[in-house]
Amino acid sequence: MNLTQQLYEEAQAYLPGGVSASVRFNRALGYPMYIARGDGCLIYDLDGREYVDMCVSHGASLLGHNHPKIKAAIRQALDMGIICSYDTVYHVALAKKIAGLVPGAEMVRYAGSGTEAIMHGLRLARAYTGREKILKFEGHFHGYQDYVYFSSAPPLDQAGPPEAPVPYIESAGTPEGMKQYIIIVPFNDLEGFERAVAAHADELAAIIMEPINYDAGCILPLPGFVERVRELATRHGIVLFFDEVLTAFRMAPGGAQEYLGVTPDLAVLGKAIGGGLPLSAITGKREIMAHYKPVGKCQHSGTYMGHLVPVLGALAALEEISAPGFYARLNGIGDRLYGGIEDILRRTRVKARLQHLGARFTIYFGVDEPVTNYRQAARHSVPMMLTFLRACYERGIYFHDYGGNVAHHGFSIAHTGPHIDRALEGIEAAMQAVKQAFPDQVRAR
Ligand SMILES: Cc1ncc(COP(=O)(O)O)c(C=O)c1O
Repeated sequence: MNLTQQLYEEAQAYLPGGVSASVRFNRALGYPMYIARGDGCLIYDLDGREYVDMCVSHGASLLGHNHPKIKAAIRQALDMGIICSYDTVYHVALAKKIAGLVPGAEMVRYAGSGTEAIMHGLRLARAYTGREKILKFEGHFHGYQDYVYFSSAPPLDQAGPPEAPVPYIESAGTPEGMKQYIIIVPFNDLEGFERAVAAHADELAAIIMEPINYDAGCILPLPGFVERVRELATRHGIVLFFDEVLTAFRMAPGGAQEYLGVTPDLAVLGKAIGGGLPLSAITGKREIMAHYKPVGKCQHSGTYMGHLVPVLGALAALEEISAPGFYARLNGIGDRLYGGIEDILRRTRVKARLQHLGARFTIYFGVDEPVTNYRQAARHSVPMMLTFLRACYERGIYFHDYGGNVAHHGFSIAHTGPHIDRALEGIEAAMQAVKQAFPDQVRAR
């Protein structure tokens, strides 16, 4: 038994499923990935095996692991006495920095996780509009709290008709009554969206969306879709709420709102913002943000909101991200990786489709056509995907599995050319393994 297996045995006695967070179990492996340390784009397991990390902390480690500037930020917090629950000059400096980078961020509040920030942001939208319902898109994921943990990856036989999805409760323990506050709409379906707005406009506090739907792999909005959502939200006084937990800083310093050229009323930034440390930010229009106490009547507070360690980490991370040439380098890495995967798919003829934007991507297995909504994504082949992930792992390339749901993968600025080439070698060999195991899923010449 190796050290990973030993720890998994022991962990199961103390941590349900042997993990501290459910999604850390990797179904492709049959156990969780326990990590001894990370450095740049590499991670090391307990048995000393080295992997090129294509999960990068679900997107949080956009700068790679063990970054010297993030370590210096942590040391600065130590020198300041690890003070907690006090604001500092750095909290203001970070808000100012975010406001300078993200188009819709006139004002900022902090939280620890994406889940937490979205909960507080939705409360603010309700306080501002005096309305209670939330429109969300099928296949979009907005964290684990009861307001919106619906239909992020519903089984197709329980999701309702494609043009009028029903809210699917994603977790046991969610009160049925929460369904009354949520309206689920198919993504990229303008008619369905317009129908839902026509029926519920006066009740809607917010339209929440992943502007790039990475949680269903990587689905971009069709031309004109987000613009129309923006237009109708404005017309009906509904808060347009971008969940930029995963998209923030992923393809541009201003995130998806800069990339798409559409500015939301509120946006939550997460993951990459903290450089691997736990920080999220609720950002938005001054007029709406001013509803937070002590100015307005909406509560947002907590002992650990904007803890000094991640605030200093985020300042350092945003310095890096906003340095000249950062995105040219990031896109260069992407070009090399994505061009390589496309070549591999052509050479092996495995029926699979790569979709990507910025530093995040997916491979939809068993899929030929462009994927533009969750229902198409959900028809991917789970067995092919798990075979691929496992074969990559065996070759020292780590991809995470999200419980069989379509997975999103990514890279960091620390992935150098040789690392990408090494990843591509592993991916090519893994694709050959998929081809052997699923001969009926190979395209004709
Ligand atoms: C788009 C999106 N929103 C919200 C969340 C929840 O964020 P967190 O895991 O920090 O709570 C995630 C990721 O986990 C996400 O991808």
